[in-house]
Amino acid sequence: MTQVERVEHPPWDGEPIIISVFGGKGGIGKSTLAFLIAWLLGLVGRTLLVDADELQKEGGTKELYDLLEVDPSFDIATEEDPKKLAGLRRIRGYRFIVIDNAPHRDKKKLEASCDGDLIVVPLTLDHLEAKAIMSSLREIVIPSGRPYRVVINRVEANRKSKARRTHDSLDLVKIPVFKTHVRELAAHQDAGASGIPVTEGTNRTWERPAEDARNLVDELLAVLGQPDRVPRPRPAVVPKATTSARTSRKVTS
Ligand SMILES: Nc1ncnc2c1ncn2[C@@H]1O[C@H](COP(=O)(O)OP(=O)(O)OP(=O)(O)O)[C@@H](O)[C@H]1O
Ligand SMILES: [Mg+2]
Repeated sequence: MTQVERVEHPPWDGEPIIISVFGGKGGIGKSTLAFLIAWLLGLVGRTLLVDADELQKEGGTKELYDLLEVDPSFDIATEEDPKKLAGLRRIRGYRFIVIDNAPHRDKKKLEASCDGDLIVVPLTLDHLEAKAIMSSLREIVIPSGRPYRVVINRVEANRKSKARRTHDSLDLVKIPVFKTHVRELAAHQDAGASGIPVTEGTNRTWERPAEDARNLVDELLAVLGQPDRVPRPRPAVVPKATTSARTSRKVTS
């Protein structure tokens, strides 16, 4: 697979679209998702990722950005001040702004950072984590009145049916859920450590996590009413020798 051709996007004139990743629980994959969403949106239009979790020095989106070994597709800023977070909509030049929130439930800050166009809530299948995430959904996300969508995240290979059942239960109570379930794959951790986003690797084990990320962001763009889709890498050209080997094969009947 070859890499996606990168386009330099002109500054965006209008209001930015704000996507806030929030879960009210630590270690559920918020920063990993926020980073991938920003990366892929950055291929579609000018994007700013705001790390609103400044206290976290390790494993946050700012650190993932600083460790990048490839040219970033988006810009980064850190901001904790609720007033400034609330003012992000006035920023010009960016088509998309993605906010990576801290795990805490500081209501004032969250009201500011979640006052956007879509709140993305990663939900894991771990019982205790899910309980905490659902309570922050009920206490903070739903009362905010802002559009939101749950993404079932970090689904282990042996828990696909549990993920489907959880999806059905959320449907039943009319909680919007992304069709894409993000799988638990070690490649996400390898990518973070290597400084290469999972969608940019040529390693075959990165194809599945990259596929999840692209499908998720395609859905996100559709939910936001945007006509764009995430660009896919062009398939590698089949070497000529393989083609002639195939055509010269003898037909036996
Ligand atoms: N889909 C996944 N598959 C495997 N590992 C993952 C996945 N998503 C995240 N991880 C790993 O889990 C760990 C925690 O992820 P991450 O930092 O994104 O969570 P977080 O919710 O932002 O945590 P915090 O609340 O501490 O900021 C990281 O090591 C990350 O690489
Ligand atoms: Mg984080």
